[in-house]
Amino acid sequence: MIKEVSIIAGASLNYKNRIKIAEIIYDTFKDKIEPVLGSRDDSIRFLSTFLNSKRIILASVNEEIVGVACLKYGGDSWLRIRGKDLFFYFLRKPVKFLNLILTGLLLTSKPEKDEVLLDILAVAAGYRGKGVGTALVNRVINLASSEKYKVVKLHIVDKNTRARRFYEKIGFRITGSRKVPPPLKRFYDFSKIYTMSYYISE
Ligand SMILES: CC(C)(COP(=O)(O)OP(=O)(O)OC[C@H]1O[C@@H](n2cnc3c(N)ncnc32)[C@H](O)[C@@H]1OP(=O)(O)O)[C@@H](O)C(=O)NCCC(=O)NCCS
Repeated sequence: MIKEVSIIAGASLNYKNRIKIAEIIYDTFKDKIEPVLGSRDDSIRFLSTFLNSKRIILASVNEEIVGVACLKYGGDSWLRIRGKDLFFYFLRKPVKFLNLILTGLLLTSKPEKDEVLLDILAVAAGYRGKGVGTALVNRVINLASSEKYKVVKLHIVDKNTRARRFYEKIGFRITGSRKVPPPLKRFYDFSKIYTMSYYISE
């Protein structure tokens, strides 16, 4: 356990912090992001541009960002992209557009009215296994509870058994699953996506 980890919700983000958050997300989920957004530089530029601080919870140690929880709820998302932005972005990279649509359908979802969707949880490689992820998820649960939401929901790939155990230890349970459609199987090495839910007690 790291004692000095601070968890900060909704802090305004300067350029340096946006880049750091985008780096942690890309480096953790490179295999899922690369087929859609391309190289590390392109992906980091894209992600850092559209981050919405109101739906981001940060973990920091000695003022350095080491983990991030990205949320969707109340009609707002951690990644705020307008149709116009997407159009111009993919005008330059049309090949990836189909991947974006398919991956979007597979890996992203909209939370119901009473749900908080934990869309991304990522801890920087050197800081894993030290309690940072647990502290971030507990903060998400507290936030959901204090704002009267009933469920915290997330999606996880079948091969990530370690992360699944991590969420089960906190109290999440598998509440659904869907199969990866054939066109996407050539990009990804998993075949099923599980939905996990944490029910907030009254
Ligand atoms: C999963 C993850 C967010 C957990 O955060 P963390 O700070 O490492 O977790 P904590 O220290 O609070 O809890 C440790 C538990 O996490 C689990 N865990 C999952 N992946 C792990 C990893 N790569 N390294 C260490 N622990 C990991 C273990 O079950 C561990 O429990 P144990 O100590 O009993 O073995 C983080 O390890 C991570 O970013 N992993 C890669 C990305 C990922 O899988 N994200 C979740 C899927 S959406």
